Amino acid sequence: MRTPVIAGNWKLFKTADEAATLVSGLIPLVKDTTGVEIVIAPVFTVLDRVSKLTAGTPVKLSAQDCFWEEEGAFTGEISPKMLRDAGCSHVIIGHSERRQYFGETDETVNKKTKAAIAAGLTAIVCVGETLKEREDGIMNDVLKRQVTKGLEGLSSFQAIIVAYEPVWAIGTGKTASDEQAQDAHKYIRQVIKETFGSAPAESTRILYGGSVKPENVKGLMTQPDIDGALVGGASLKADSFGAIVNFG
Ligand code: G3P
Repeated sequence: MRTPVIAGNWKLFKTADEAATLVSGLIPLVKDTTGVEIVIAPVFTVLDRVSKLTAGTPVKLSAQDCFWEEEGAFTGEISPKMLRDAGCSHVIIGHSERRQYFGETDETVNKKTKAAIAAGLTAIVCVGETLKEREDGIMNDVLKRQVTKGLEGLSSFQAIIVAYEPVWAIGTGKTASDEQAQDAHKYIRQVIKETFGSAPAESTRILYGGSVKPENVKGLMTQPDIDGALVGGASLKADSFGAIVNFG
């Protein structure tokens, strides 16, 4: 039995005060929730403030990215060790927006994932096809490449969560259907099994991301290979993210 994970990706969130207001509104809605791992991923600048507000609650803290070196002169980069120091237990790696706008590759995803695990973080590794890749019929080739190269060389999957985020569903309001999402998740799990073995395939949580809302989360969560959600827009409202966390 895989424990579900509901994670909120607070992309481009504004100020520490606004983050504090959001967390303060969320905690009463989820403080007694059981059987679900709850994660929020604010922007770097508010991690310290949010960490203090979530201490002692079931809400875990994630960053939205990290670098792959722990030491050295890399101006502007943030290492996994620094994220641990800021109170993070998770980090999102390989989000499609990092791939699209900032040159993230399967190779850098792999390096970041290994560095995150080495620093004691759980890596939420994002994969997903573009609309063109889906329409061109190469979706499975893309997912297989992203999974096998992104997770290559790991000695354990204990600190790995995979997030399937079809790029065409992110921020568009166009959610993948339950069947589309289940098909992709089932394929990803099959690739993990064929590449890394049955144990990691069985234990690894695979989250769906892409316009998840309180209205569609229940249907998604009834699918056998969907183990949670990575939520963008709907995580920026305490009541909607609380409703998604309490999907059960
Ligand atoms: O990482 C989650 C995010 O990309 C999904 O965004 O707004 O479609 O839920 P949204």
